[in-house]
Amino acid sequence: MTVYDVIDRKKRGFALTEEEVRFFVRAVADGRASDAQIAAFCMAVVWRGMTDEECFFLTDAMTHSGETIPCPRLNVLFADKHSTGGVSDSTSLVLVPVLAACGVHCAKYSGRGLGHTGGTLDKLESFPGFRVSLTAEEFEAQAERVGCVIAGQTARIVPADKRMYAVRDVTATVDSIPLIAASVMSKKLASFADVILLDVKYGEGAFVHGGEEAVRLARTMVDLGRRAGRRMCACVTCMDQPLGDSIGCCAEVREAIGVLRGEVRNDLSELSLSHSALLLQAVLGISAEEAARRAQKAVDSGAALQKLREMVAAQGGDARAVDDFSLLPLAEGRAWVRAKADGYLRVAATPLGRACVELGGGRLREEDAVDHGVGLRLLRRTGEAVRAGDPLAEVYFDPERDPAGALSLIEGAFAVGGELPPRQPLVYCTIAEEDN
Ligand code: URA
Repeated sequence: MTVYDVIDRKKRGFALTEEEVRFFVRAVADGRASDAQIAAFCMAVVWRGMTDEECFFLTDAMTHSGETIPCPRLNVLFADKHSTGGVSDSTSLVLVPVLAACGVHCAKYSGRGLGHTGGTLDKLESFPGFRVSLTAEEFEAQAERVGCVIAGQTARIVPADKRMYAVRDVTATVDSIPLIAASVMSKKLASFADVILLDVKYGEGAFVHGGEEAVRLARTMVDLGRRAGRRMCACVTCMDQPLGDSIGCCAEVREAIGVLRGEVRNDLSELSLSHSALLLQAVLGISAEEAARRAQKAVDSGAALQKLREMVAAQGGDARAVDDFSLLPLAEGRAWVRAKADGYLRVAATPLGRACVELGGGRLREEDAVDHGVGLRLLRRTGEAVRAGDPLAEVYFDPERDPAGALSLIEGAFAVGGELPPRQPLVYCTIAEEDN
């Protein structure tokens, strides 16, 4: 068998055997398959699709293409949450301390931002001194002592995905359900979480645009997780406009802290708390109402905020920043984008995410540095009536860098029309843990 044979068979629309899939993934991981061959394989999958069996073999082969993370010795259930990526999605910064405050351990490996989407690790590095590279011993010790930890996976975890994702990113082969499902789930299954909540985004700012397609992706990933022995639940949620009101690392950390203080009430707070409740329900075996009550109590009592302080301090960060925002500095340049006409507003997520990257707050290549202070705050949201001249966004930029390109992207993110745009529900559907 050769890599060429496997690509050729997929191109012709055959279902690959387990042996063929595993052979291909091994060739990706050990460098025998070239980038061109990976691209050809991925494009064949985009067009021909994969059966559930093929997708399972692909996921399993990718999961074991490198090291897997050993389960901590602590005899408790670990919860995890994964979002397929969005704009102003800081739910992990809220959910992880809320769960820990409710006695549910959350030891989470997160990623960095790529393209127009933000990454939890970059946001956490807004805390001066915060370390995302932890040894397995540090990770485990913190999970036990604090109840929560968020760190980065090393390059040795799922190396096949690292290569495949980089090639997909530049060959228009990201938007394939089996490829996304295998990519996401291989990283989840290489880790040890017992109960996993997937937040599958759909809409303008997501990899998947239609709600039903997102449901198919969610079901595919839930099935892959269950087949691997994990307890799974999923939500399909809307990413037509940014989830929260802030975009950019420091701005998003401030907003997440605002949610934990009980001061910010918006789609971000709603989704963070409903996700937390779903996981509490699954791990603790309590009713949905009781889970929602406990999540809210963790916020109202200040217990979740205290967990965030403990987590930041444990990872070497300056926990005073949780209470003193001058330690999470926004860039000094300020500009406002204003409505050009009277009417109803529609806000698009992708150009706002791109604008943040353009300001220096995201990365186009993995090695790019991130400016944590730049970004923007949305002042109005989809469906609101605005008048010409009303401020729609406050932009934070580095005065040493020309913000013109970013400002024109931000202007393009706002459309004002005579008709009230249809507002999609925030949660399109939920696959609860007990649903099979
Ligand atoms: N996130 C991933 O990790 N992989 C994908 O393919 C898409 C989103």
